[in-house]
Amino acid sequence: MDNRNNTIAGWVLFAGICALGLTIGSGMLFASHNPEKPGYPIEDAEAGAGGGESAVPLANLLAAADPAKGETVFAKCAACHTINSGGANGIGPNLFGTLGEEIGHGKHGFAFSSVLAGMGGSWDFEKMDKWLTSPRKFAPGTKMSFAGLSNPEDRANLIVYLNAQGSNLPLPAPEAAPAAEGDAAAAPAEGDAAAAPAEGAAPAADAAAPAEGADPAPAVAKK
Ligand code: HEC
Repeated sequence: MDNRNNTIAGWVLFAGICALGLTIGSGMLFASHNPEKPGYPIEDAEAGAGGGESAVPLANLLAAADPAKGETVFAKCAACHTINSGGANGIGPNLFGTLGEEIGHGKHGFAFSSVLAGMGGSWDFEKMDKWLTSPRKFAPGTKMSFAGLSNPEDRANLIVYLNAQGSNLPLPAPEAAPAAEGDAAAAPAEGDAAAAPAEGAAPAADAAAPAEGADPAPAVAKK
């Protein structure tokens, strides 16, 4: 009996070691995979693209933006850019009326990099937001040596300020988020109300299930 007990205890111990081994083994497997994935978002964040793009849609940020605050942000650009109508090009081109214009063209003969000149398309709100998030990422090889603005609200304020200097493009319509905020008080109540009957209905559905299950059986039997 003692021997059997020892044998059983031995097997239990052995099983435990196996389980532990599996846990460690799988832990190592997952450990080796996980760091690969977070690597990409971290790169994005370093480049300044993390800045909350997903949190609030650009259209909503623009709708809430303040051009006066944007003018303050423009102080970071003024070392290289003028923005008054007919202003001189400096290290960077004059930026009057740039939103809506072709990317990397015009500007009284400013010598754009081939990257920006060859980009194609014109400056819309989305592109300007990406450019200002990280010029290097938007146009690799650009000669605008500016790291980017990581704060989405700073960018939105700046963009509406830029837009007010000779462009005046219509702002994109904000997405449903502001309306949802207004409904916020009602929404949870609706959610609760919807959830309550669902919970109540669940047992009924369970109860019905065997009944439904029972029906086909006689049907099969009849065939
Ligand atoms: C260190 C100087 C410097 C700073 C600071 C700078 N820029 Fe520039 N910017 C440039 C240069 C140089 C170019 C031309 C880039 C190229 O040709 O690749 C440029 C190009 C641009 C363009 C493209 C214009 C066009 O017609 O296509 C925009 C828009 C722009 N800058 C906006 C800004 C804004 C807004 C800021 C401030 C947040 C800023 N820049 C800060 C130097 C600068």
